[in-house]
Amino acid sequence: MMQAAVTVLGIETSCDETAAAVLRLDGQGVRILSDHVASQTDEHAAYGGVVPEIAARAHVERIDSLVRLAMRDAGETWGGLSGVAATAGPGLIGGVMVGVMTAKAIAMAAGIPLIAVNHLEGHALSARLGGQPSFPYLLLLVSGGHCQFIAVEGLGKYRRLGSTIDDAAGEAFDKTAKLLGLPAPGGPAVEAEAQQGDPSAVKLPRPLLDRPGLDMSFSGLKTAVRRAAEEAPLTPGRRADICAGFQAAVADILSVKSARAMEMFAAGREGPLSFVVAGGVAANRQLRSQLEATARRYNFTFHCPPLRWCTDNAAMIALAGAERLQAGLVDSLDVGARARWPLDERAAAEAPAYGGGRKGAKA
Ligand code: KG4
Ligand code: ZN
Repeated sequence: MMQAAVTVLGIETSCDETAAAVLRLDGQGVRILSDHVASQTDEHAAYGGVVPEIAARAHVERIDSLVRLAMRDAGETWGGLSGVAATAGPGLIGGVMVGVMTAKAIAMAAGIPLIAVNHLEGHALSARLGGQPSFPYLLLLVSGGHCQFIAVEGLGKYRRLGSTIDDAAGEAFDKTAKLLGLPAPGGPAVEAEAQQGDPSAVKLPRPLLDRPGLDMSFSGLKTAVRRAAEEAPLTPGRRADICAGFQAAVADILSVKSARAMEMFAAGREGPLSFVVAGGVAANRQLRSQLEATARRYNFTFHCPPLRWCTDNAAMIALAGAERLQAGLVDSLDVGARARWPLDERAAAEAPAYGGGRKGAKA
């Protein structure tokens, strides 16, 4: 069936990035008309992590001008929008409220539908900003707050196959950086250090690899990093070796579990198989190349959004909003902001301790 063409403004404020984007979805595919992200890294740097109150205030200060910029760059008028989408959770509640309130005001003033988007659905669909893949696909979502395998059967149809039982992978990168005195955000800092190091110089554990299933664990790895950092003087060379060893351990854990997830996902399915890696940690080059090789081995087509759509952005929220709008899935103006909002509500209810929430500042 031919879907109606839609133009959607997307708003993202769930953590420390204020973002606004305008996107058009029609028979030709996705066209990103504007895409702006204002990061708050500098505001939080002194505290070694994201401070929720500072984040909320920074979103309030920036959101209006960012939305104006996104609209101007897109050459769009309020009347030209088919809908407005905002991240309504999960995330730091103060920030989420800023985005939701802004979107409600625009929806009301412009008389257009509001779409309350789950931030994780944004990440789950982010690869589709490039037009590929079509449903269904296997997703590894690796961000600062989440690490889970999800069978994406269609829009709004997400089945969690496994997840971390403690820290998220991005959280482990961030904590490792902090332990080693590297700047936030930890992922890119650890990756840069790792390039100078020898991954086999410092042996780090690969928790839960010997157990069946798709559960993952990263908190033991963090403890091992602490021990390695204390065992010998932390010279620049030693620090680079620890980063390289840590990155190799994360990549190994995710590759082995991805291979298992692919076997599980492929069972009983016919036709082409696709594997998507999304979320901030997917920006990691070593991880990408290892996962790509794993996908090739299991006959999956590998998809990973370009770097700017791996980390938090509004284009993915606009896309989730546009796909929902085309499917008639819009929200009422009294929809609330949610700190917790698992993608697979049933799996989260059955195993509430796993993956649904987050312990780090990021979600
Ligand atoms: O998706 P994201 O921007 O925010 C959410 O958590 O939703 O992900 C941020 C996480 C942070 O933990 C950051 O350290 C990690 O992604 N990250 C990376 C890299 N770039 C960002 N981790 C490893 N390597 C990277 N290059
Ligand atoms: Zn995110």
